[in-house]
Amino acid sequence: MVITLDGPAAAGKSTVARRLAGRLGVRYLDTGAMYRAVTHEALRSGVDMDDPEQLARLARRTRIELRPDGRGLRVFCEGRDVTDEIRSPEVTANIYRVADRPEVRQALRARQREFARRCDLVAEGRDQGTEVFPDAEVKFFLDASLEERARRRQRDLRADGCEAALDEVMAQVARRDARDSSRPVGALRRLDDMVLIDSTKMAVDEVVEAMVAEIERRGLMPGRT
Ligand code: C5P
Repeated sequence: MVITLDGPAAAGKSTVARRLAGRLGVRYLDTGAMYRAVTHEALRSGVDMDDPEQLARLARRTRIELRPDGRGLRVFCEGRDVTDEIRSPEVTANIYRVADRPEVRQALRARQREFARRCDLVAEGRDQGTEVFPDAEVKFFLDASLEERARRRQRDLRADGCEAALDEVMAQVARRDARDSSRPVGALRRLDDMVLIDSTKMAVDEVVEAMVAEIERRGLMPGRT
């Protein structure tokens, strides 16, 4: 079984996907972490970021592991724990040079599908219900207003000891939305067969409960017939 969860930046996808996967007893696939890991490896190894073939080779070959731990996922790249490094401003600023490349997306798409052959999962990202798993059992689109998403991002930044003005964070999130929605391959899109959840006024638990209710309604809760 594959459940997809797409949506714009800072909508709460990772937190919700992790908790939903926990409720269902399946694995959680953080595809943003894969794009981040390849970007990190590209910067570290000094490949030419303007050469799609070199980037695609990295996307095919870099050993990326997503290991669940008590609080979330730890991300390993070539055996090294890069969980914190892949969230650096440098990686975030360069990620489009990697994620906009159709060659890279093709390589990571294949790896994501390979993952689904081995286990049931909740797959989270920008293109999971559109291009990677168009036939997933349930496809969710998690949204929230731009202002609310910027507030959430601002809170995360604050937790990391970084103060930023709300209008600045809003502008950054809006820029990421525009980039993620306009790339030629793998653009963020909401399709008619996706269940839209607007979490602007919802707590994380409420979002997860709404998703569980939808999965139950379709008779897909693991362990039930
Ligand atoms: O989800 P996260 O913010 O970690 O994703 C980082 C970036 O990776 C996104 O802004 C997007 O450009 C890219 N991405 C993507 N396709 C996915 C997941 C992430 O292009 N499935």
